[in-house]
Amino acid sequence: MNTPEHIRSHKNKPLVCLTAYTTPMAKILDKHCDVLLVGDSVGTVLYGMENTLGVTLEMMIEHGKAVMRSQPSACVIVDMPYGTYEDSPDQALKNATLILKETSCAGVKLEGGVEMAKTIAHLIGSNIPVMGHIGLQPQSVVIEGGYKIKGRTNAEISKLLDDAKAVEEAGAFSVVIEGTIENVARNITEILNIPTIGIGASSACDGQILVTHDMLGLITDHVPKFVKKYADLATEIDKAVENYAQDVNSRAFPEEKHIYKGQS
Ligand code: KIV
Repeated sequence: MNTPEHIRSHKNKPLVCLTAYTTPMAKILDKHCDVLLVGDSVGTVLYGMENTLGVTLEMMIEHGKAVMRSQPSACVIVDMPYGTYEDSPDQALKNATLILKETSCAGVKLEGGVEMAKTIAHLIGSNIPVMGHIGLQPQSVVIEGGYKIKGRTNAEISKLLDDAKAVEEAGAFSVVIEGTIENVARNITEILNIPTIGIGASSACDGQILVTHDMLGLITDHVPKFVKKYADLATEIDKAVENYAQDVNSRAFPEEKHIYKGQS
């Protein structure tokens, strides 16, 4: 499996990252990806939740195990869900240790900058590799009143820079920058020695990550501006299921080749 140290050494080189939640999908993605993120986006993508706040540690562990069962070569990182790390560095350590022990993944990701620096340092001090996540933080959606792009004001720019530096100084091996404007992403990427991984943060970042179901066109409702659709699988599935329904209704399926025969 790609290690966090290998990812750290990818500064100034493109890093291909996607989310994965299940074994079959991880098997397909693995040969093209440097990082597979078991994101807490699993809550909205697979469970129909409105946001990621309802995602539990148990869900992350089960999906982490599922991805690891594909025996990936990519570096597998599991998100720490809302409510499992913010209270104290010790709470974070207890839950991150459980994630690593149960799933054997390579490390964890958590949201937050300056305010999470102590926690990140605590995890790293206990040999748990951490990927940071700054900018738009989906776990803050309720408190912020929506998903808001960061870096449009001087105050936001200086907060983002402080967050980025704090995460690096705390020892993170890379940092996701979500939902920010190009110049800010470029500035952060130039300043940091660890790779930046952008989502809605322009091509100025070292690497890129997308939610796999978004880029495959499996999500039919709101798709953010920053997503490029590389396939339209929802339409493909619709066509396939329409054909199946027609065949069942007309008794064209199953055909002779699908039928077991024996003595009657
Ligand atoms: O949960 C998630 O999928 C993420 C993104 C960075 C894609 O955190």
